[in-house]
Amino acid sequence: MAAVRTEQMHLAAFAAAGPVSGCHGGWRHPAADRNILDAAYYTELGRLLEASKFDMLFLPDILSIPNRHEGSHDSQLRHGALGALRLDPMIVLSIIAATTRHLGLASTLSTSYFEPYAVARAFATLDHMSAGRSAWNIVTSFQQSEAANFGRTEQLSRDERYDRAEEFVEVTCKLWDSWRDDALVRDPVTPLYARPDGVSAIDHEGKWFNVRGPLNVSRSPQGRPVFIQAGASGRGRDFAAKWADVIFVTHSSLESAKAFYAEMKERAQRFGRDPQSLKILPGIVPIVGETEAIALEQERLLSALTESQAGLSTLSYHLDTDLASFPQDQVLPEMEVSGVQGHYKEVAELTRKSGIGLRELGHRYGMGPLREFIGSADAVSANMQRWYQENACDGFMIQVPYLPGGLESFARLVIPQLQAAGLFRREYSGSTLRDHLGLQRPAN
Ligand SMILES: Cc1cc2nc3c(=O)[nH]c(=O)nc-3n(C[C@H](O)[C@H](O)[C@H](O)COP(=O)(O)O)c2cc1C
Repeated sequence: MAAVRTEQMHLAAFAAAGPVSGCHGGWRHPAADRNILDAAYYTELGRLLEASKFDMLFLPDILSIPNRHEGSHDSQLRHGALGALRLDPMIVLSIIAATTRHLGLASTLSTSYFEPYAVARAFATLDHMSAGRSAWNIVTSFQQSEAANFGRTEQLSRDERYDRAEEFVEVTCKLWDSWRDDALVRDPVTPLYARPDGVSAIDHEGKWFNVRGPLNVSRSPQGRPVFIQAGASGRGRDFAAKWADVIFVTHSSLESAKAFYAEMKERAQRFGRDPQSLKILPGIVPIVGETEAIALEQERLLSALTESQAGLSTLSYHLDTDLASFPQDQVLPEMEVSGVQGHYKEVAELTRKSGIGLRELGHRYGMGPLREFIGSADAVSANMQRWYQENACDGFMIQVPYLPGGLESFARLVIPQLQAAGLFRREYSGSTLRDHLGLQRPAN
């Protein structure tokens, strides 16, 4: 029997600046707030998450309207699927930074379509503006439709994308370190604004990037943003083991979560890291009610509002494979996918276990990962504690089925139970996101 874990778990909230955060039918829920183009929607979300003591808000991103399903973006738009609409996450987070004081703010930015200088500058700025609460979800992107929006006829191969990502992150780290911590003085009497000997060019010349530096933003409160990663291919796992502070992952069972957790902690050790410095947060879609019957009623409603075509359209984009071209009543065939390995593993396991055909799989996928977190507050919190105590995770990425009601009930019903068990904070004890996660500030 493994030792009982007494440290506290971490909770992040996955909320897209778009129609879907947890469940594809969520935006159709009668109590859903559909005003996702209003700044007030996000300031209210930030307020609620901070009042509930979440570690961070996580904004996913995408750089096109996906058109993998039936070769068109129609299904995404018609059904309000995951990629139908997406605001720029950095701008949304800047607004939330101004109206919160503790909540971590995580933005997704692709290493395949941006340049390290611009990305380093944007995150250094967000880290200053939020007094040390920024995080970067480092993605390599995986869709042709994104390449086509950035002047490319073909996207890079997976290996090339990871090669570029590796150098990209090295360059951003050099840029964040191009200012010594004590370089900015702002002494009006001497006068000395910044020490010239504390700010250095980086003179990076590599395969993908030539960057002279230094950055034109001083070193930020956290030194650099917290790094988040979600790649699950062999390259993705190595990249995460080397760089990530936090891994976001989806599973379809406790067993696969435990196996992944053990493997990634071991991989981190192989890179010479303390496995505790890598936090693994699986995505869950909790549907919680005052009683089990109330939760099941909510689930029935969300299920009725979630169309199979919406989930299948998103799965086609995640796997980068047109699933409309297969017989809809047959199981997902085994295949080599060029899309997201993590999502493929999740649906392949589900298919193997349940034998459901594609139409049903689309509906299940549209409902979000994992059905084990549906029920009374007691049942949901007990299950979260079980996952945590059995070393399947260091906390969770909470993908609420609809906003704001799904989040309000999770915060009101489940969080107090985790707090009563001593497994979640009642108050923030530090001010930066690194403080919340128990991570050290990187030395310059
Ligand atoms: C749970 C999860 C969430 C992800 N979120 C995003 C995202 O918001 N934007 C994006 O471009 N890629 C996202 N990805 C894709 C990965 O971060 C990664 O770039 C992609 O999976 C390719 O890596 P792989 O081949 O190692 O899986 C996500 C992947 C997973 C498993």
